[in-house]
Amino acid sequence: MGYQITDWCHSIIRPHAVKQGVYIDATMGKGRDTLFLCELAGKEGSVWAFDIQEQALDATRALLDKHGYGKNVHLIKDGHEKIDRYFAPKTADVICFNFGYLPGGDHRIATQAGTSLAAVQKSLKILKSGGMMSLCIYSGGDTGFEEKDCILSYVKELSAKEYTVIVNEYYNRKNCPPLPVFIFKN
Ligand SMILES: C[S@@+](CC[C@H](N)C(=O)[O-])C[C@H]1O[C@@H](n2cnc3c(N)ncnc32)[C@H](O)[C@@H]1O
Repeated sequence: MGYQITDWCHSIIRPHAVKQGVYIDATMGKGRDTLFLCELAGKEGSVWAFDIQEQALDATRALLDKHGYGKNVHLIKDGHEKIDRYFAPKTADVICFNFGYLPGGDHRIATQAGTSLAAVQKSLKILKSGGMMSLCIYSGGDTGFEEKDCILSYVKELSAKEYTVIVNEYYNRKNCPPLPVFIFKN
């Protein structure tokens, strides 16, 4: 098991795999999270992934092809803030967000506080009871702090009866380490 943020998030998500599950990658990027969700979904589950950049869809398609995945995967070129146009309430088992910009891409095309918050709010409705969401949140540098602050203030106020929110911390790392956040729908 690795301790970098994506490995850490995957290790928390992994036990939540269910048969015939619906898995959503809300920020496809180069497809590493999409690939992980395909592994979880197996043949019976389905995977949906969103990104606003064609480059991300191309990279993800190539990665999935290389690993023999393709069936049951839907790559959608659209903003995750419109996720409610694709899914009915209480239909997803796992929703995964990895905010920021495409690795190796244009840093100006990155997730934004307003749309990220809208996507998280809508995704909570789309989650089934017993489902979970993971958020990899970055801050500092090109990213700034608005998105992180906005999401953290929102999730802090979620009803404890309905959700369990766990915020992890790379406690001994300097310079704005990434923040893994998990939301479990009770
Ligand atoms: C840090 S990357 C994701 C990394 C990715 N999960 C991986 O495994 O490589 C963030 C991605 O979010 C995408 N993005 C930015 N705004 C978005 C939006 N409104 N909806 C969906 N994706 C968005 C960017 O284009 C970028 O590819």
